[in-house]
Amino acid sequence: MSAAPETSTPVFVVGAGIMGAGIAQVAAQAGHPVRLFDTREGAAADAKAKLATGLEALVAKGRLGAEAVRATLARITPAASLAEAAEAGLVVEAIVEKLEVKRTLLRDLEAVVGDACVLATNTSSISVTALANGLRLPGRLVGMHFFNPVPVMKLVEVISGLHTAPAVAEAIFDLSARWGKVPVHARSTPGFIVNRIARPFYAETLALLHERAGTPAELDACLRGAGFRMGPCELMDLIGHDTNLSVTESVYGANFGDKRFVPSGVQRDLVDGGWLGRKSGRGFYDYAGGATPARLEPATFAPAPLPAAGRLVLHGGGVAVERWAQALAEADRGFERVEGSGWSGLDADGAQLRLTDGRPAAQVAAETGVRDLAVHDHAAAAGGGAPGTVLAWAASAGASASWAATAAQWLQAAGWCPLRLADAAGLAVARTVAMLVNEAADAVQQGVCSEAGADAAMKLGVNYPAGPFEWLARWDAAAVVRVLDHLDAHYRGERYRASPWLRQQAWRTAR
Ligand code: NAI
Repeated sequence: MSAAPETSTPVFVVGAGIMGAGIAQVAAQAGHPVRLFDTREGAAADAKAKLATGLEALVAKGRLGAEAVRATLARITPAASLAEAAEAGLVVEAIVEKLEVKRTLLRDLEAVVGDACVLATNTSSISVTALANGLRLPGRLVGMHFFNPVPVMKLVEVISGLHTAPAVAEAIFDLSARWGKVPVHARSTPGFIVNRIARPFYAETLALLHERAGTPAELDACLRGAGFRMGPCELMDLIGHDTNLSVTESVYGANFGDKRFVPSGVQRDLVDGGWLGRKSGRGFYDYAGGATPARLEPATFAPAPLPAAGRLVLHGGGVAVERWAQALAEADRGFERVEGSGWSGLDADGAQLRLTDGRPAAQVAAETGVRDLAVHDHAAAAGGGAPGTVLAWAASAGASASWAATAAQWLQAAGWCPLRLADAAGLAVARTVAMLVNEAADAVQQGVCSEAGADAAMKLGVNYPAGPFEWLARWDAAAVVRVLDHLDAHYRGERYRASPWLRQQAWRTAR
């Protein structure tokens, strides 16, 4: 197959569960005649009836036209057997996530369909290469990884295994675009793009919870402050800890136990205890009686006045330093600036507030001999965030209570709502964003996807506020590598090893 199938091309969808039904709807809306098959008696007809109810509700709300919905539903026919796939130009399978069951299905399909028919799998974790092995025409199998709910989520990862013919991947890429989706090419590797790059979003918060650096509500607030719609804890509660853990375990196992992906005992405990999240009524939060737990939100934000100081020196640059410089200038307050000191932040009469470089405040204090030392988190939201955006900070163990209070006031004076965490390496956002960038850099280096592909996938597949390479462009590679190297030295594991690609980038852009 060298060109995307015409809208008249019959599409056969196998598996009428949540994903298969959505795929059938999207294909039918794009004009294809669709047959929907499921081994469970009546499942395809039930799925069609459910689709009809959902689409008619959208008509009632004025979001879809009655005629368009009637035509869409008329194009979907429940199939009684696999034999009805004979005329299909494309088969998409969305059956149970088991290698042998999918392999058997694909082999059975090859006995029915014509040689020009493309076989697509919606697997979320199984190697497309492994699924193609043993097929008569393995080059026609491609991954077509939709996201849930299929009619809403724009992303489709178009996954090429070892055998996948480039023309087949191109045709499915073009077809996905014609279905109103944003396709992104990916090579078949564990977790593909989204499920791989997203691992640190959960893992870093789980690691912080493990060392009791903050509560779920605090850590969620920090990550929402970086622009994420949901914090990691509330998101894991929504996904379900069993599902989330099993994806992590699958990526970890498929990478031969690479410590980068090692699952968390904190999450294992929740699963063992049956606290699976929203669906079980309890996860990190309590959903008893269908309640939505209150989020930790900044109270009505009032910026604090600039703290008094004798000699004030701003070091380096970055959003916090620029905000302080502007506020001080507006208040007609004198200050000095030092560019090349190797850190970013402020020094007020010998007490310091620094942007984290991945070291805990206590380590910086010990290494510099500065007793009153505090660190603040990376402000990853665009422009550093609107007034009142939550930003984490921590004070070294030896810092005076008065400097801790003053450091928080400096952050508040710069427009942030300061949230104190324990003195954990890399705080919450810096380590999470650094690790997301790092994982994306590895994926690009390993040919899994392009930079633009990674950005699109993370924004459209999991609603990230920015793509990893957009964050990198706003931050800088040397700073990201510094955070990772400090985390690596602190934890002495393999989780924080910097991507060779990122290190190269840091050398190239070193100033
Ligand atoms: P589901 O459990 O809702 O539906 C699976 C359906 O396949 C069931 O109706 C089952 O009766 C049917 N089935 C099982 N074996 C079959 C066979 N041999 N032939 C025909 N039908 C068979 O599962 P869901 O969530 O729709 O997932 C389907 C696939 O999509 C899996 O591979 C999953 O990993 C993948 N996926 C799921 C996502 C999700 O959020 N649920 C997201 C992206 C991919």
